[in-house]
Amino acid sequence: MNPNVRYFGADYYPEHWPEERWPEDARLMREAGLNVVRMAEFAWVKMEPAEGRFDFDWLRRAVGILHGEGISCVLGTPTAAAPAWLMQAHPEIYRVNEQRQRATFGARQFMCVNAPAFREASRRIVSAMATELGAHDAIIGWQIDNEFGSLCYCDICQAEFQRWLREKYGSLDALNDAWGTIFWSQTYSDWTQIPLPWATSGGANPGLYLDYRRFMADSYVAFQRQQIEILRKHSPGRFITHNFMGFPKDVLDYYKLAEDLDFVSWDNYPQGGAPVDPVAVALSHDYTRGMKRRRFWVMEEQSGPAGWGIMCPTPRPGQIREWTRQAIAHGAEGIVYFRWRPARFGTEQYWHGILNHDGSVNRRYEEIKRVGDEIKRGDIPDSPPDRAGVAILVDCDSRFALQAQPGNPQFSYFEHVLAYYRALYDPACPIDVIPAGADLTGYELVIAPTLFVLTPQVAGKLADFVYRGGVLITTFRTGVKDEFNRVVNEPLPGLLREVCGVEVAEYHSPLPDEPNWVRGLVPQLPSEPTRARVWLDVLRPTTAEAIAEYVTGFGDGSPAITRNYYGSGKAIYIGTWVERQVIVGCDPARLEL
Ligand code: GAL
Repeated sequence: MNPNVRYFGADYYPEHWPEERWPEDARLMREAGLNVVRMAEFAWVKMEPAEGRFDFDWLRRAVGILHGEGISCVLGTPTAAAPAWLMQAHPEIYRVNEQRQRATFGARQFMCVNAPAFREASRRIVSAMATELGAHDAIIGWQIDNEFGSLCYCDICQAEFQRWLREKYGSLDALNDAWGTIFWSQTYSDWTQIPLPWATSGGANPGLYLDYRRFMADSYVAFQRQQIEILRKHSPGRFITHNFMGFPKDVLDYYKLAEDLDFVSWDNYPQGGAPVDPVAVALSHDYTRGMKRRRFWVMEEQSGPAGWGIMCPTPRPGQIREWTRQAIAHGAEGIVYFRWRPARFGTEQYWHGILNHDGSVNRRYEEIKRVGDEIKRGDIPDSPPDRAGVAILVDCDSRFALQAQPGNPQFSYFEHVLAYYRALYDPACPIDVIPAGADLTGYELVIAPTLFVLTPQVAGKLADFVYRGGVLITTFRTGVKDEFNRVVNEPLPGLLREVCGVEVAEYHSPLPDEPNWVRGLVPQLPSEPTRARVWLDVLRPTTAEAIAEYVTGFGDGSPAITRNYYGSGKAIYIGTWVERQVIVGCDPARLEL
């Protein structure tokens, strides 16, 4: 295979098909140029049909047949779909939702990762899999579980949360102070009084809410780590990854989960129910690459019409190729198509893949075969450089906190970041999407949209970056909260006040159709009024100068966008949700600020 894209394959479910068919599948895969499959991530019940009774013979035979055709295997640990026998024996494993309703058997991902019985059952199946197959020549790596991304509000989680808080705060006095529990007489005198942010409790204390989200994120890190330790021991020399869900998914802290993995993967389904947005897909690729600042895999790449009850449009001729090439251009070094053949039964009957339901080949198979040939020949786009000139910063704490308190119902962190990414998007000028605390050395421009929760460490890095000559663009609702999700005790943008040379004199959360406008005061920004939506910070420059102002609507005549010279660099503060042409005007590559 090509040194830049060494793995090219499909997600394969041999347990869905008669064994007599497996050799045919393996042959067709080889003929299409595939050299890897991911499998077994939903086959728990076939590998352990009853507690402690294991059967890996079928999997070993499938692996052997594939290996015979030169195809390597990535095994998924099967902990995203627990068998009925386990759930019957341990109903306390069922996840509980925010409304305090317990999940029931039927789909998947209904388990609580903190439940001791689930941890024990996971340990058992992963250990058995790893000892049975971990040293097989065909096994090149592991995928942990499948698409982590659920919260749980059960009693076990509550007790674990209380323990987590005790470790974090040491004393109830410290916790009460950090959360401001004097508000509504919520002061705790015993750790066991502390609730989870159940919907049934009404609006949660923001400090409790953010800590709960961090706790759930840590719970998945611990759950994943338990499996990683087993695999490292029994299957040495194999990579370990997890398939994330791209930038829009914001339930867990992907950055923390990524730390323990060798590389990260994600599942790319560009064609949903809406027209394909290639820039949004590019953002997810760059976000995934930024998690470990290294190349990644697409562990599920769409290869057919998808859907459970409703089907999305079928990929048109050339579209699968385009998606594949885009992934490579953004740094994918492994491409695995979902799925080899659509299931004839089960919830995902309509989620098509490469072959037809009846196992025959079709034009999508032929297209993938051509893509495989191109990869082999090296006819692929260049991969991105190790470091781009522009970085967009993403912050999980801010995302979590904003989900509870978006400020304005029209505000979406995802859409906000995407708007900046889209405005600067240029396939010839790569963008890095990296965590807010990352090292910023070497970047010319850093965009930090709505760093709502801002710590002194991150603020210090940004100040240092600007001082040394960088250009920082930041936006409204930055620096509003401290690490405990308390509003800061100083004018906004809090810790970035000096760097931005500006204070927020007042702010306004507009109604959806309110006619508010900004106009540029420098030639690079549109002098014609353009819409100001979602949020309006009325700015009071201290050392900055206004480069755009509000006109006619709220804040008429007041600064809306400022720029400040700080050290050898510049900081631009954009106080409202602006139109694309305004963002483009603030890009220093186009604007001599
Ligand atoms: C992914 C998931 C797969 C499959 C696919 C289609 O998100 O990882 O297991 O369910 O969606 O629904």
